[in-house]
Amino acid sequence: MPQTPRKLWRDMTVFDGVQEWPEPMAVITRGDRIDTLCPMRELDASLIQNAHDAGRGGVMTPGLVDCHTHLVFGGNRADEFERRLEGASYAEIAKAGGGILSTVRATREASEDELLERALPRLQALIDDGATTVEIKSGYGLNVADELKMLRVARRLGERLPVRVVTTLLGAHALPPEYQDASDAYIDLICDEMIPAAVAEGLTDAVDVFCEKIAFSVEQCERVFLAAEKHGLPIKAHAEQLSNLGGTAMAARHGALSADHIEFLDQAGVDAMREAGSVAVILPGAFHTLRETQLPPIEALREAGVPMAVATDANPGSSPLFQPTLMLNLACTLFRLTPREALAGMTAHAAQALGAKEFGRLEVGALADLCVWDIQRPAELAYAVQPGRLRQRMFQGVMTHE
Ligand code: NIG
Ligand code: FE
Repeated sequence: MPQTPRKLWRDMTVFDGVQEWPEPMAVITRGDRIDTLCPMRELDASLIQNAHDAGRGGVMTPGLVDCHTHLVFGGNRADEFERRLEGASYAEIAKAGGGILSTVRATREASEDELLERALPRLQALIDDGATTVEIKSGYGLNVADELKMLRVARRLGERLPVRVVTTLLGAHALPPEYQDASDAYIDLICDEMIPAAVAEGLTDAVDVFCEKIAFSVEQCERVFLAAEKHGLPIKAHAEQLSNLGGTAMAARHGALSADHIEFLDQAGVDAMREAGSVAVILPGAFHTLRETQLPPIEALREAGVPMAVATDANPGSSPLFQPTLMLNLACTLFRLTPREALAGMTAHAAQALGAKEFGRLEVGALADLCVWDIQRPAELAYAVQPGRLRQRMFQGVMTHE
C-alpha cells in the first residue's frame, strides 16, 4: 500500500484562525488534512517518520477565506469612478441607471467563456495573495438565463484553479430595467423561477439579497429568504450599507449566515445577530472606495461577541480591489480592528460566514489549506501592504506555491 504523503514544517509561528500560539510549533499534513499541530518540544521521532521536510520558520496561517466577492462581471466602471470624483454619489449614479445596472448590461452581453477568461486573472490575484476559498456571487444578470450563466462561470473557475469556490445567487441585487415599476413581479421571478432553476442545476450554495432603498425592501427580501428556505439554501444579506432599514434583524430572524456591510446597523440589529449566531461581514474596501463616513458598530459587535469577518467585496463598482491582505490593513486602519481580529476575520470567521467547518482553521482533522508567509509575526500581514510575502501555499494538501 502506498503511504499517504506527509509534510512537516518546523519552528513555525502559527496563527490558527483564532489565536497565535505562544511558542514555536510543528505542523504535519497527511494527504488533504492537518495531521499534527503541536509545540516543537512535543515533536518526537514517531511523528517525524516518513514525513517530508516542508520547511522551517516563518508565519503559518490557514489559507485565507474571502467570503464576499462579485468576481464575475463584464466591463468595468472607471467612468463612474471619475464621475464620483467630480462629486456624484454612488446612490445618484445608481438611480440614473448606472452603477450596478451598467455592469448588468456588460455582463449580459458577454458569453460564458468571455466572463470566465476575464475572471480568471482576478481569481488568480486572490490566490497569489493567499486565498484558498473564495465566495462568488451572481447579481449582474438579473434574469434567469444570465444569473445562471454567472453561476456556471463561478463553478468553472473553481474547476480551473486550485481554490474552493463557494457560489451565491444574488438575483435580488438591483431591479432590472424590464421590471421598472414592477419590483414585486421581479421578486416573484426570483422566488418562482430563478432559485428553483439554480437549485436544479446545482449551481448555488446560498442566496443573498441587497436590502436598501436603491434595491429591495425588507418585505421583498424576506420573500426571497422564504423561497430559499423552501429549497434548503442558507441565506445572507447586503444590509444597512447606506441606511438603516432593519434588513439585518429580519435576516437574523431567518437564521442568516451573515449580514454584510452593516455600517448603519443599530443595537437592536447587533442583538438580533448575536441571538441568531450570524457573522458580521465588514467590507472596508467598499467603505474606502465610496468614502463612507458612517463606521460599522465595531465596539457593539465586539461587546456582543458577534464574530466579525473581513472580505474584499471585489466588484467593479464599490470595491475594485482584488487583494485580501489589503483588506486586513484597511480593516485595522479604517475600522480599528486589531490585526488578530482582522486575521480571524479572513480565516475562521469568514469560514463561519460560509457555514463551513472544515477549513479556515489550522486544527487536527481540518482540510490542509494553509499559507506560509515570509514575516516574523502574524500582525505584519495587516500592518504592511506588500506583495511577495507568500512563501508557500497549500490547497487541500497540494502545494501550489513554493
Ligand atoms: O457589495 N452593495 C451592493 N452591491 C455591491 C456593489 C456592487 C457594484 O457596485 O457593482 C457591494 O458593494
Ligand atoms: Fe457585495
